[in-house]
Amino acid sequence: MLVNSKVMLSKARKDKKAVFQFNINNLEWTKCILEECNRLNTDVILGASEKAIEYMGGYQVVVAICKELLESLSLNINVCLHLDHGSSIESCKKAIDCGFTSVMLDFSKRSLEENIEATKKVVNYARKYNVSVEAELGIMGSIQDTKLEISQNTNLEDCINFVKKTEIDSLAPTVGTVHGIYKKELNIDYELIKKISENIDLPLVLHGGSGLSNEVLQKCVESGITKININSDLQEVWSQKVREYLLSNDKVIDPRKIIASGFEAIKNEISFKMNINKE
Ligand code: G3H
Ligand code: ZN
Repeated sequence: MLVNSKVMLSKARKDKKAVFQFNINNLEWTKCILEECNRLNTDVILGASEKAIEYMGGYQVVVAICKELLESLSLNINVCLHLDHGSSIESCKKAIDCGFTSVMLDFSKRSLEENIEATKKVVNYARKYNVSVEAELGIMGSIQDTKLEISQNTNLEDCINFVKKTEIDSLAPTVGTVHGIYKKELNIDYELIKKISENIDLPLVLHGGSGLSNEVLQKCVESGITKININSDLQEVWSQKVREYLLSNDKVIDPRKIIASGFEAIKNEISFKMNINKE
């Protein structure tokens, strides 16, 4: 069933477990993630960025793919379809109108006041449709962006103020992770996660979850993280396998075979990460 993220995240927060968000890129990717999460019998959040949505044919197409796969594959898990890093109030509204069950407005690079005002508008709109809202504080770096390789962490005071004024459903505080596969050791501020988690009664979201060991992910959850976002790790394992397949099968032209050659790697990566909920 397509649901918002509220129940799955509040239950996970109470149990000190993680809910994973895996980002989707196409029909096959979505099917692969859903099949594996169904096999593991675990709730999941499918993250769709604006670029991925555009690539897949638009908001309605993405909603249809998720709904139809859930039905035609007879999947029994709860699935949240989430707009990841929404860049405007309009794109959040569009996602909500088309049937997304959760949205993120990412105004983290704007001023705090602007972020608060815009997020309040999205929360107001989302409430009417029972859609959950995530927002981000602090500035996350990305290894694709050399200027922003290092994140600028947020602080407790801003988080308390922001949550009180916006009434969001989950908060993504920047705590030291970055987007992309990071090869260097990261300096994650576990104390900051703890402080925010003790003072704010909301699920906390870890963006930039790729490239971290299960031990580190586990430590983040113990400190107070509930939702873990993974995109690059799945892309990396999938493309590695497809590259190998193409090199050793240079006569194959069937796109189904080529794309499917990376599925097992995606599924293994998902089930490996899910182990943190068993420990
Ligand atoms: O919003 C998506 C995630 O933050 C993905 O981060 O590049 O570490 O997979 P990642
Ligand atoms: Zn992110």
